[in-house]
Order: sequence, then C-alpha cells, then structure tokens
Amino acid sequence: MARGFDRVGVVGLGTMGAGIAEVFARAGLGVIGVEVGAEALERGRGHIHKSTDKAVARGKLSEAEREEILGRVTFTTSLDDLADADLVVEAVPEVMDFKRALFTDLDRICKPETVLATNTSSLSVTAIAALTSRPGQVVGMHFVNPAPVMKLIEVVRTVVTDEGVADDVAALARRLGKTPVTVGDRAGFVVNRLLLGYLNHAATLLERGVASLDDIDTAMRLGAGLPMGPFTLLDLIGLDTSHEVCEVLFQESRDRVHAPAPILRELVTAGLLGRKTGRGFRSYQGDQAPSEPEPAGGPAVASVHVLGEGAERLSDELAAAGFPAADAQDADVVIALSGTPVVEHAVRLARPERLVGLHLVGDAVAEVVSTVVTAPEAARAVHDLVMALGRTPVACADRAGFVVEALLYPYINDAVRMYDSGYASIDDIDTAMRLGCGYPAGPFETLDAIGLRAVRDGLRALYAEYREPSFAPAPLLDRLVTAGVTSIRDR
Ligand SMILES: NC(=O)c1ccc[n+]([C@@H]2O[C@H](COP(=O)([O-])OP(=O)(O)OC[C@H]3O[C@@H](n4cnc5c(N)ncnc54)[C@H](O)[C@@H]3O)[C@@H](O)[C@H]2O)c1
Repeated sequence: MARGFDRVGVVGLGTMGAGIAEVFARAGLGVIGVEVGAEALERGRGHIHKSTDKAVARGKLSEAEREEILGRVTFTTSLDDLADADLVVEAVPEVMDFKRALFTDLDRICKPETVLATNTSSLSVTAIAALTSRPGQVVGMHFVNPAPVMKLIEVVRTVVTDEGVADDVAALARRLGKTPVTVGDRAGFVVNRLLLGYLNHAATLLERGVASLDDIDTAMRLGAGLPMGPFTLLDLIGLDTSHEVCEVLFQESRDRVHAPAPILRELVTAGLLGRKTGRGFRSYQGDQAPSEPEPAGGPAVASVHVLGEGAERLSDELAAAGFPAADAQDADVVIALSGTPVVEHAVRLARPERLVGLHLVGDAVAEVVSTVVTAPEAARAVHDLVMALGRTPVACADRAGFVVEALLYPYINDAVRMYDSGYASIDDIDTAMRLGCGYPAGPFETLDAIGLRAVRDGLRALYAEYREPSFAPAPLLDRLVTAGVTSIRDR
C-alpha cells in the first residue's frame, strides 16, 4: 500500500522551502517548518504569510482557508521535532557541506521509515543518499520556483532508491495538485539540463556576434513563441546560479555546449548577477539610455528585387505596399529569401553590397541577414520593409541557422538524445518543459510541428558550420528520417 505522508517536514524556509511548506499545507497536510535560528524562522513565517495574504487579496483563497492553511504549519528551530515525520523535504542552500551535515542529522533523528527528499537543483541525489543509513529512502523532489504556482515536480530516483518510494512520492505530488515526472539522477534532471544548454548557447551566439542581445530575445519570444527571450530569463534566474548549473552540467557531460559561456563568467565576477543585483545582461536600475527612436518616414528604397523560394509572393506583397519590383541589376536592394546563408547570392551580383538575406520565421518575425559585404543602408532598408509588412525584424549575421534555428534545433537534438538514452520518456520530457518553463510546447511537439527532416537537415548545416559535436543530428533522429517516419511518437 502506498505511504500516506500525512506529516511532513520542510527544512529551510527560504525562497523554495517556504513555498513548499505552503503547498503541503494547502493540500491539507500537517507541516513542520524548520529554520536555523529565530530570525530566519520569522523570515520564513513571513514568506508564507505574505504569499497567502496575496492569494486572499487576489480572491484565490478565503480568509478562513488562509487561517486553516497557516494553522497546519508549525514553526521550529529544532530538527528533533521531525522525529515522527513521514517525509522531510530539504531546501537549504545549494552547498554540499550543508546538505551533508543536515542529512546526517535527519538520518539520526527521523524514524526509520521516514522518506528523506532533497530539493537540490544540481547536486547528486545519489551522493546525498549515500550519506545516510537509508539510501533506499532518499529521493529528489525538485520543485520549480515559485513552488505554490508551478505545477511540475521532478521526482528523482537513484540507482539505490527502494522500489515504490519514487512512486509514492509521485502519488503525493499528484495529491498536492502537481504533475510529477519521475527521472534518474543526472545533473540538471530534465528541465535544467535542456534549459541551461539552450541559454548558454544563446550567450555563445551573442559572443560570436551573430545577433544583438535584444534581437536574440525578440527572435526567441516572437519567432519561437517562448514566454521570454534567453537573456531576460538568464537575468531572472540569476547569472551566478546559471553559471553554476552549467558548470555542474559540464562536469558530468564534458560537452562543450555546457561549458559556461565566458560572458557569464565575466558578468558573475563583476557582480552583475541579473535582476537581483539590478544589472546582468540588462540594467534594471532605470538609468538605461533611452532606446534609439525609429527613424521617421518609410523605407528608403524605390525598388526591390526578390529571389529565392517564395520570391513571387513577397514581390507581390511588397508591390502592394508601394515598393515595386525591378531587375536585380537596377533594384535599390536585392532580397534573398533563404533559410541558409546568402553570401553566395551576393557574390553573383555586380553590386553585392545591396544583397540582404531574409528568413521568414512563423507569422511574426523575419530574420534580416547581413553578409560581410552588405551595406548597412541596405540592411536598414530591408529592416524597414519588414516592418512595413507587419513583421518584426531581427538583424543577424550570415550564419547557418541564423538565430531561431541555431538555438532551437540543438535544444531539440539534446531532448532526442536524452530520450534515446533511456533517461526519460517523450511525454515526460515534453511535460517537464511545458510545466517547468512555461513553454507552449515540449521539444518533441515542436519537432513534430517543424518536421523531422527539416530539423535533421538544419542540424547538419549547423554542425557543418560550427563543428560543434553536439550539433550533429542525434543518431535516432537520423534513422527516423531515413526510415521515412514523420513523428517521433510513431517509432
Ligand atoms: N531558488 C530557486 O529557484 C530554486 C529552484 C529549485 C530548487 N532550488 C534548490 O532549493 C534549495 C534552496 O534554495 P533557495 O533558493 O530556497 O535558498 P534560500 O537561500 O532562499 O533559502 C535557504 C534557507 O535555508 C535556511 N537554512 C540554511 N541552513 C539551514 C539548516 N541547517 N537548517 C534549516 N534551515 C537552514 C536558510 O536560513 C534559508 O532561509 C537549493 O538546494 C536550491 O538548489 C532552488
């Protein structure tokens, strides 16, 4: 029979622990919240009061419900009060020495059947389990910040976790109104491993000068449909935390894509950690120079020549907007509609500086591609034409994948490799990314929507350009395309 887990303990009532205690209390469980000292305990109590007050103000909780929830939480500074708990979740800072001391104490204090869970984001759950005399009853229970709101819990089972323990913890997660995803003990689990790989890669593209910070953010928000761009998210997570997670991922994977981008190291060393310090990739202190006003008036072009797949349709759209077509040799600008680098089109022209690449991404974005010979006026004119057509322009260099595909395809490739290694199921990976990051779709849903062949071919081009080993298409993806399979779920 599944364990009941009616009395739970939460150790550390900081950002995560206070939220976790609230989640348990909201589900009707008795909670013992433990902090290091009286002051920290009051701070923890304050977090829970503030959060439930907010819920009342928003009409999500009644006064009576809030009182009931608060009545279920007891606050203490003594770990001894956890002796009878059925489950203890630890949420103390991410320092192995702290976890070591705590798990040694919990193992001594708690009854033998108590399940001990860690909320660690990047430490080895197996190493923590091995500190106790009950490694079979130690799991990871990785909540997402803010715990009361976010639906995902990654339940981490190690090679020594007893049969049934992870299932019981997953059942508890469902009782809390959450969606559990049960995974093994690998650095970053599902969400941080896929997310930080992608965020780190965005920082690398910035360092390589493929596009500006704002253009990369815009491309991923409007072009890939993500809730926010990678630099906004890095600043929100904190660059120190992001750097640390990348470092841990790299230590395990030895994959260069996880090696923290040098710009992260530099910002962290300079104390620019993101929103929490008022400045990271961006400044949040209200002292930023006002952004440059868009130049008044329409695009400074009289005529346009469009080449590439879909040229006729774009020419018609431009003509309807007042920019008539002309021959390639006479036009003010030549637009090469292309999903691949365009410099080869430029060199065929008598005046290659007039050629600008254009890659339409979804319905909202167009990547405006400048080659090494593109004149800045030509790129600006195409930027304005794109705006006149109602799309958002994203300026970028003439590199394989431009911005959106260069960031999206390796992320999908990582997810395919993760699944193929047996680490997690397709549905669990999709669920984890949707619920853990607020993505509109999981990586496999995105893969199916784009098409397996397009992603495989895009990855081949990225690999050929950057020679990054992990950009080479995952063998499974290659095999599926060769076999003519159109959805990874059909394998
Ligand atoms: N912040 C996040 O977004 C996030 C998300 C998921 C997981 N995590 C993980 O959750 C854990 C906690 O992170 P956080 O951001 O809540 O940290 P935090 O610094 O906000 O809170 C930690 C709390 O633990 C208390 N504490 C320290 N030692 C203690 C001890 N021996 N006994 C009792 N309390 C003690 C501190 O006083 C503090 O209030 C870490 O392992 C972290 O990796 C964090």
